[in-house]
Amino acid sequence: MKLRKSLLMAPALLASSLGMMAGDGVTVEHLGVNNTFVRINGDGRYLLLPVQESVADAKVNVLIDGKLERTFYVRLAKSKVDYTVPLDLEPYKGHNVVLDINANHDRSSVREAKEGACWDAITLSNTFDTTNREKFRPVYHHTPEWGWMNDPNGMFYKDGEWHLYYQWNPFGSKWQNMTWGHSSSSDLINWKHHAVAIEPDGLGTIFSGSCALDPDNSTGFGKDAIVALYTAANTSQMQSLAHSDNNGESFIKYPGNPVFTLETEARDPNMFWNQESKQWNIMLAHALEHEILFLTSPDLKTWTLQSAFGKGFGAQDGVWECPDLFPLTVNGKKKWVLLVNINPGGPFGGSATQYFVGDFDGKTFTADTDKSGKIPTKWMDYGKDHYATVTWSDAPDGRRTAIGWMSNWQYAADVPTTQFRSANTLPRDLSLFKGNDGQLYLASNPSPETLKLRDESVVKEQAVNTSATATSFSLPAANNGICEVVFDIEAKKNSKVFVTLSNSKNEEVVITYNPADNTIAFDRTKAGISDFSRDFPAVTVSPTFTKNGKTSVRMFIDRSSIEMFAKDGKYVMTNLVFPNEPYSNISFTSDGSAKISNLEIYSLKPSSSL
Ligand code: FRU
Repeated sequence: MKLRKSLLMAPALLASSLGMMAGDGVTVEHLGVNNTFVRINGDGRYLLLPVQESVADAKVNVLIDGKLERTFYVRLAKSKVDYTVPLDLEPYKGHNVVLDINANHDRSSVREAKEGACWDAITLSNTFDTTNREKFRPVYHHTPEWGWMNDPNGMFYKDGEWHLYYQWNPFGSKWQNMTWGHSSSSDLINWKHHAVAIEPDGLGTIFSGSCALDPDNSTGFGKDAIVALYTAANTSQMQSLAHSDNNGESFIKYPGNPVFTLETEARDPNMFWNQESKQWNIMLAHALEHEILFLTSPDLKTWTLQSAFGKGFGAQDGVWECPDLFPLTVNGKKKWVLLVNINPGGPFGGSATQYFVGDFDGKTFTADTDKSGKIPTKWMDYGKDHYATVTWSDAPDGRRTAIGWMSNWQYAADVPTTQFRSANTLPRDLSLFKGNDGQLYLASNPSPETLKLRDESVVKEQAVNTSATATSFSLPAANNGICEVVFDIEAKKNSKVFVTLSNSKNEEVVITYNPADNTIAFDRTKAGISDFSRDFPAVTVSPTFTKNGKTSVRMFIDRSSIEMFAKDGKYVMTNLVFPNEPYSNISFTSDGSAKISNLEIYSLKPSSSL
């Protein structure tokens, strides 16, 4: 009897003295209220870490053979598991792996600390399931396979592939652990996902930056080597260099990093090789000073500050981030465009991309002025969800192709998705045009590759009756309503045109063209779920850059995003929407005399990215 009792007790004793068993091959050992060791003693490619959205970040130190290999933060489940994220164990194969964790669960005793829901649920697995579980995940826009994404960065084109890196948190759906995620595509539509390209290190996490090919081997990494600049972010922000010798799969950090530092916040280095001056031009966001610094470098290792542009110009309310500078030819003349992303201070609150058109002599950028001698503020996109936009280096055929983050820092961490957070915009080819005021403006056209998405033409109407009574058409139901809608509008001066997308739950997006002031407005106040942020319901308004009562629309709907372009790209508005069911109907009305013509609705094919 006695013997039996002690045998029964044995597993419990074992658990408290040596550790509790989680999944097979994982032992959990509580060392104190805020200290738990998770030892890996079995096989498995991934350690699946259980996450609870609403709790604080745990700090995880990964010890390999007793040495600190890396530190990351993850919201380890306290009372329930919302989802898991994978820690890839492949690089540590054959070594002793221990996770030294401060769960940050706000417990008062070790006994309570043991109750954390994560401890039983930590498991080893050879697979991590990335199958989409989200109804709001766009299906023809680039999204990360899982986890949080912000800025696209480091984009370059080489050997037929468009490489896209992005600010990524592989350990959950909020901003943290900034790492360069990596995808590539041969057509800007179908994206392949690759392993992490640049991981945090002792200098900090990996903020935004840029990549380019080094045509003259100025860096010594080889002719046409892929070079990267990024900001290592810790207590300070430090500019750092890396290169890739495996086609952008991974990067070798320069041992002399950081290559450039300032005493003030500066980040997001963007570079190009200047064939005329035979040196690198580097643009750096001097974030809190609201200016862009222009630097030169012969080899990306030593930088010289040449000039600064921005103080007192354009929108100054927020921090200045993610610059880009590139030439475009207009009417046979070369002009330079400086993109500056700002947050907050956008025209509809929060984040937005402003730009300046001007001249650049290799050292100094001079912006064009308007008739009154002032430098005008120009916006690249008139929606609420277009940020951190930069362009690809080394794009073919003289193309200047941009992509932006389709969200806004006001609510990016609160939108109703968890498996992934945020998508990128459709790729856009940029050009310049002269506006009615004589100023040069940027036109953004969906890259020609987007035509490949078209599946069937489901509506083709040369003329649509527009009156106080609505004329309606069904939107394609296939693939949860993803579609492209194209039409022309012509209206008499005092006649507004209303275009409404709606579903059976009375959710709607209302687009209003007003020829009296040549504007087009996008109202998402009743578009669907919006209670996650008071900043989400909004009406955004764009000039149409026309003055003859005419405009056109080319609209892309992809589950939770709507991008509305003028057919010639003269305006674009990007807005997120979260309808409880897809919009199934489009209707046209007018309060006066107006014409809608050349209406075309296409069902679209999802891309193969997921
Ligand atoms: C812009 C930004 C950049 C920074 C990155 C960090 O959204 O704030 O300035 O490099 O995000 O993730």
